[in-house]
Amino acid sequence: MAKSDPIPELSQVPVHVGVIMDGNGRWAKKRGLPRKLGHKEGVKVFRSITRRAKTLGIKYITFYAFSTENWKRPKDEVDAIMDLFEKNLDEVKDFIDEEIRVRFIGDRSALSPTLQAKMLNTEKSSEHFTGTTMILAINYGGQDEICRAVKKICESGTSTDEITPQLIEQNLDAPDIPPLDYVIRPSGEMRLSNFMIWQAAYAEYYFTDILWPDFTDADFDEAIIEFSNRARRFGGVK
Ligand code: FPP
Repeated sequence: MAKSDPIPELSQVPVHVGVIMDGNGRWAKKRGLPRKLGHKEGVKVFRSITRRAKTLGIKYITFYAFSTENWKRPKDEVDAIMDLFEKNLDEVKDFIDEEIRVRFIGDRSALSPTLQAKMLNTEKSSEHFTGTTMILAINYGGQDEICRAVKKICESGTSTDEITPQLIEQNLDAPDIPPLDYVIRPSGEMRLSNFMIWQAAYAEYYFTDILWPDFTDADFDEAIIEFSNRARRFGGVK
């Protein structure tokens, strides 16, 4: 199958896929390399999978790139990841040429002013695209996002009987983006790690032992084929 071909046998494609890019550190360690080289390799895979998602007709794909807990890592590693963000936002032009919309979720206030400005710029220059949207979760935590949403609601003077799941949803970081249908986590860990816990309430999950830097387009296809075979009931009966 050529790289740009859609998969013929899919009966349903998830609207919104979330990807927890895990295993970069182990990938590097196995090769005796510094962890930051694992992240660098991980970025290549991130770029390729974003394109593959577009080819498959996936409307939204969110990547967990840096969590609110990742600041605890050695400074050298955090700096390397922040550098990768900046560098890739400079290079995001190819996504824009391919009409991929780019957005971000997470608490931006802790990021450098330069990075924040680049993020805003990238969002603005791609906001008119209606095909595939790639969302990067940076300084993101699901609990933190819900907490910030609740703070916004309280600050607006809303009375308690007006509080509904819909109102909380409307105050999340990207309220217009539909919930996750599918969460893919490579590297053998079987947990959500605070990734979009609200939006993943009814998601299907896919776990694989492959480390993120080794994850190929064919591995992604395999995950999407698996989704197309799952029956979802959303709490009802079918
Ligand atoms: C998890 O692997 C990965 C991260 C915490 C960082 C992911 C970041 C990138 C791939 C760079 C992002 C940049 C762009 C532009 C998307 P790990 O380090 O926890 O791996 P381990 O579990 O093997 O230690």
